[in-house]
Amino acid sequence: MRDTVPSNTMLRRIAASTSTTLRVNGQDLLSFAGTNLLGLGHHPEVLAAAQECLSRCGLSAAASRSTSGNFAEHENLEEALAEFLGLEAALILPSGWLANEAVMQAYGDELDTVLVDADAHTSLWMSTTLTRAQVIDCGASDLTRTHALLDRHGEQHLALLTDGLFPMQRRIAPLAEFLRLLPRKGILLVDDSHGLGFLGQGGRGSLSGAGVNDPRAVMTGSMAKALGAGGGFIASSTGTIERIRRRADAFVGTTPIPPAVAAGARAALQILEREPERVRRLRAHAARLTAIGKRMIQDDAEGRSPVLALPVSDQAAGRALEQKLAAQGLYIPWTEYGGGPGALRVAVSSEHTTQDLERLEEALLQHYQP
Ligand SMILES: Cc1ncc(COP(=O)(O)O)c(C=O)c1O
Repeated sequence: MRDTVPSNTMLRRIAASTSTTLRVNGQDLLSFAGTNLLGLGHHPEVLAAAQECLSRCGLSAAASRSTSGNFAEHENLEEALAEFLGLEAALILPSGWLANEAVMQAYGDELDTVLVDADAHTSLWMSTTLTRAQVIDCGASDLTRTHALLDRHGEQHLALLTDGLFPMQRRIAPLAEFLRLLPRKGILLVDDSHGLGFLGQGGRGSLSGAGVNDPRAVMTGSMAKALGAGGGFIASSTGTIERIRRRADAFVGTTPIPPAVAAGARAALQILEREPERVRRLRAHAARLTAIGKRMIQDDAEGRSPVLALPVSDQAAGRALEQKLAAQGLYIPWTEYGGGPGALRVAVSSEHTTQDLERLEEALLQHYQP
């Protein structure tokens, strides 16, 4: 497992935001940061839905869902998520991180072996601390190694944990192949926080992109990215969701996301479904970003991603570069997130304009040295 403590502990303080700008140190900067993929967190319909619910229900659910914290907005969002994703049922959790832990709380007891992609998100790795099963790093979408491991452990109760899209590595997990190799009673846990809104039909995520709909697959994700809201979700078969609802302390013993956030997320989902052109624009911008990457660092990774990691290993150099870009009105953070090597993390949104991307390319060409 990777180092989970990022060394860039200095936080930048944001005073205001739009779908493409952040106010940092009193300056409104064109942002190529974060995961605000489709600008939905600032959409007037999303804000109106959240504000209406806020005035009606208050700021907090103020109780777990099993007592008095289960609002209509939570259930409506779960129905909408399941329907949009083409899966039988969905469950929302206070965060994407807890969604992964909830799956392991529900299944960990009966697992013998857990295979985890080497680059899987820290929350997937952390979820493996909730089971006594043997945990094995199965490499980075390494089918040969995974196949060999499944040959050795395939008769046991087994789960395979992976992200759907690894944005920094610009790699899409081979989900169809994983499902082909997975034993009949195995579980494929796919954290699709980054695939939702980008991959698959109309942004339905990496399972849709792989053309698979299999009851052994459990999809999780953060709603703080493409949906511009907050909280996490799990979507799968009715039986799986029912089991998690009953067994996962992360669900039973926590206060859900505020109803207003659930109302906003549902409105965001409706816009995503109604306006697939947002996803198309995001993909076009991601393709442009890939071309910029090839130009800057001779990167030959072919994978699609709205994120480009430009290596800058030294923190002081990363900060200096951040400042030079800020002087030109751009916000692009340097990060060592997840214990990976330091990099300037460049992220595009569907709401950027062609001119925004031109500004980005010019500034990087001027200031970035591989
Ligand atoms: C792949 C992935 N999974 C899970 C999470 C955690 O989601 P949340 O921030 O909703 O807890 C993140 C985080 O940002 C993420 O990138």
